[in-house]
Amino acid sequence: MKRIGMGIVGTGFIGPHHIDAVRRLGYVDIVAIAGSSEAKAQAQADALHVPKGYGDYHALIDDPRVDVVHNATPNYLHYPVTAAAIAKGKHVVSDKPLAMTAAESKKLLAAATKAGVIHAVTFSYRGNPLVQQARHQILRGDIGKPHFLYGHYLQDWLLKDTDYSWRLEVDKSGASSALGDIGSHWCDTAQHLTGLRITHVLGDITTVIPKRKKPRGTRVAFQAGGDDVAFDLVDIKVEDLASVLVRFDNGAKGAFTVAQVCSGHKNDFIVEVCGANGAIRWDQEKQNDLWFGNRDRGNETLQKDPSLIDAEVRGYAHMPGGHQEGWPDAFFNLMRDIYGHIAAGKKMTDPRPPAFATFEDGYRANCIVEAILDSAKKGGIWTKVEY
Ligand SMILES: NC(=O)c1ccc[n+]([C@@H]2O[C@H](COP(=O)([O-])OP(=O)(O)OC[C@H]3O[C@@H](n4cnc5c(N)ncnc54)[C@H](O)[C@@H]3O)[C@@H](O)[C@H]2O)c1
Repeated sequence: MKRIGMGIVGTGFIGPHHIDAVRRLGYVDIVAIAGSSEAKAQAQADALHVPKGYGDYHALIDDPRVDVVHNATPNYLHYPVTAAAIAKGKHVVSDKPLAMTAAESKKLLAAATKAGVIHAVTFSYRGNPLVQQARHQILRGDIGKPHFLYGHYLQDWLLKDTDYSWRLEVDKSGASSALGDIGSHWCDTAQHLTGLRITHVLGDITTVIPKRKKPRGTRVAFQAGGDDVAFDLVDIKVEDLASVLVRFDNGAKGAFTVAQVCSGHKNDFIVEVCGANGAIRWDQEKQNDLWFGNRDRGNETLQKDPSLIDAEVRGYAHMPGGHQEGWPDAFFNLMRDIYGHIAAGKKMTDPRPPAFATFEDGYRANCIVEAILDSAKKGGIWTKVEY
């Protein structure tokens, strides 16, 4: 099998998980990482057992051994890094959101399509075996026509005013924090599970903590702060709480809440789909169980077990029943689907495995978030999502 060269820009929280997942494939060489400075990049490369660390992402993109560029930088660098990689004919795996705005995402989609490169966005929950099982059953019609989708994505890592991140700065994160960061996962997963499209939204957004203590110096994502650190008191312009009503293209309704300020909720992501004949719920924090709500018999729980899930999605599970699989395994499945496509020399127009989300999916996520912000700005009115 021809080996594929991978290079990654940004190795903070998520970057090393890209490297781990791709390493598990066995036929990909991690050629280099790029960081914000030469010295830091080489130190990180050494720590991650990657041969080369570049202080400038252009040098990584220019490296002829790099076939696929992964973009795991803060959001404001998604557009320039991805655009530069496409311009050099490299395949791109971008972390979400694809870009800071729908307009930027649209340009990236057009450029990648024109260049004929493979383009992927890491909507990571698609890689979970029981998400694929739920999707398979919903699309097969097991719960009948979906009429209501609901759930939430709640975290608590921004609960205190000493908690701080670039995710709270408009020029680095975009106009949204919670919606763009985790709401985009809820919307992608809900649409992925059902094949439905979000057409209209009504948003109520809140900044629970309007002033925060920004530490002087840097901090990796999700790292807690403290009162002993020197800080500047800054105004926060993005939401840390949002509740959204949703309409789907089959007439189904939906409702979800996202927040980074709900105590005790670490990565509490739930999607439930209610249909004419039953309901299915997937709960990220109990991701090895799939709940089935029944009207005329007892409710059921399917434990993740390759021998009990449908043959069509069995490949997403790697361990026997009772052996828990988790976030890194789902992320590996994403990379397997994306790199499998690249290794087989396929194009974006060829059929793709389901965990492989594209720049088009990334663009759609941006459009939804912008429509929610627009709705909230107008006082919470129904707003059509313009794709
Ligand atoms: N798919 C998922 O589930 C998921 C999960 C977490 C994060 N993300 C996304 O991944 C991206 C990164 O998030 P994170 O939590 O890892 O952030 P982070 O702040 O921990 O890491 C960002 C990294 O980018 C580096 N960087 C900054 N400027 C750079 C430059 N000019 N050149 C090269 N590198 C540079 C930083 O040094 C840091 O190592 C975000 O867009 C986020 O939305 C996705």
